[in-house]
Amino acid sequence: MNPIDTVIMAAGKGTRMKSRLPKVLQGLAGRPLLQHVLGQASALGARSAIVVTGHGAMEVEAACAGVVSAGGQFNLKFVRQEPQLGTGHAVQQAAPLLQDDGTVVVLSGDVPLTQPDTVRALVQACADQALALLTVRLPDPKGYGRIVRGADGTVCGIVEEKDASDAERAITEVYSGILAVPARLLLQWLPRLSNQNAQGEYYLTEVVAMAVAQGVPVATHTIDDAVQVAGVNSPAQLAELERAHQTRSAAALMEQGVRLADPVRFDLRDDARSGARAELVCAQDVEIDVGCIFTGRVELGEGARIGAYCCIANARIAAGAVIHPFTHIDGEAAGVQVGEGALVGPFARLRPGAQLGREVHIGNFVEVKNSQLADGAKANHLAYLGDATVGERVNYGAGSITANYDGANKHRTVMGADVHIGSNCVLVAPVTIGAGATVGGGSTISKDVPAGALSVARGRQTNITGWKRPAKKPAP
Ligand code: UD1
Ligand code: CA
Repeated sequence: MNPIDTVIMAAGKGTRMKSRLPKVLQGLAGRPLLQHVLGQASALGARSAIVVTGHGAMEVEAACAGVVSAGGQFNLKFVRQEPQLGTGHAVQQAAPLLQDDGTVVVLSGDVPLTQPDTVRALVQACADQALALLTVRLPDPKGYGRIVRGADGTVCGIVEEKDASDAERAITEVYSGILAVPARLLLQWLPRLSNQNAQGEYYLTEVVAMAVAQGVPVATHTIDDAVQVAGVNSPAQLAELERAHQTRSAAALMEQGVRLADPVRFDLRDDARSGARAELVCAQDVEIDVGCIFTGRVELGEGARIGAYCCIANARIAAGAVIHPFTHIDGEAAGVQVGEGALVGPFARLRPGAQLGREVHIGNFVEVKNSQLADGAKANHLAYLGDATVGERVNYGAGSITANYDGANKHRTVMGADVHIGSNCVLVAPVTIGAGATVGGGSTISKDVPAGALSVARGRQTNITGWKRPAKKPAP
């Protein structure tokens, strides 16, 4: 088989998106459309990907640079198409970079969900000698180029909707915009494209008639799955493909035994901040309630249960842990770890570097950042733990916080095992509370507390007996 070179057309403006962002950079499942397409090129084992840019070229090129350093397997090149005179004109710009020993696969930067197997089958159909077209049968073929076949069923050409007769418009087999062809043939044909058509554009689809005239076989690989060839032109279409993609991820998880309360209310996204791929790794008997969003790499241990409407990014949640509804867990780069049998939420927030041991309880409106909580520690209500080391079985009272930031630097708070922190305490870091110590409610602790001690740091209570409240004076 010839080496594969891909040409990705990505110069169009995407006017109907009504967005400042170039269309191919709009996100689907947290990654730009164009990255999905580059993923197809990489799944094919392509030797190169030539991206044809135009509208927002600088931005588009910059957005790809990151991807390729991560994926890395093919040679990524850019060519500019200015002005944009049609799909044939777009591929003409790539011609000088094409080697004639290859098979060229033309992809569109705005068609994100083509399956690798589909493109592979198309390359097989090309077999280093034919012009192979990916076609799809659509009940409503409106807007697409129609595949015109002769009496014997062989393809004679592609007619664009705007150039089609009524009879041709009735054809339901359409061109997907994706083709595979030996480079040596494509390079002969490209210079001969004309723009004599209803739109005055250079149509790439004209190569079909050239192949037919020259006796080059025109093969087709036909699918019924419209999602795989659907392009994004508007926010509504983007949302539709997003859902199609998510439903596919949900189906794959359910296939593995994950119990999703509702597969249409499930989202798994790449982490746009780090470029980390969306990956939800689930052990047996995981249950996920409705409306959850998983971002980046998330691992759920055996029997873990995720309540409704949780957002979970870059985290490892161990077996038997329960995350109650509306919990926000974002590990960013440092990650979050939730230990076996831990209970988190509802309405809890775990930030980067939160590491919860076994059976830890984090209740409502508790925020944990860059802190290790040893087995059995509990912070059940309205609290903040930042830059803290919390010993086993510590009980951290409602409304207590670590004052970890002095305005310039962050400092640590250390609590030994079995410490009891009352309600509404401020632990001014750096500070250490020795094992077994108790801190009275309302204390502001700025000095270390020895192990086993009781520390109370607040104004003493004064009671004035027989106190009379001021009475309102009668009106004059
Ligand atoms: C094209 C096909 C049509 C097919 C349809 C499938 C042609 C002439 N027609 O039509 O048969 O059914 O795709 O979606 O090829 N682009 C450029 N530069 C240009 C023009 C387009 O880079 O000058 C890019 C666009 O950004 C887009 C892709 O090429 O990513 C397809 O262009 P689009 O205008 O959507 O083609 P269609 O008219 O839909
Ligand atoms: Ca299109």
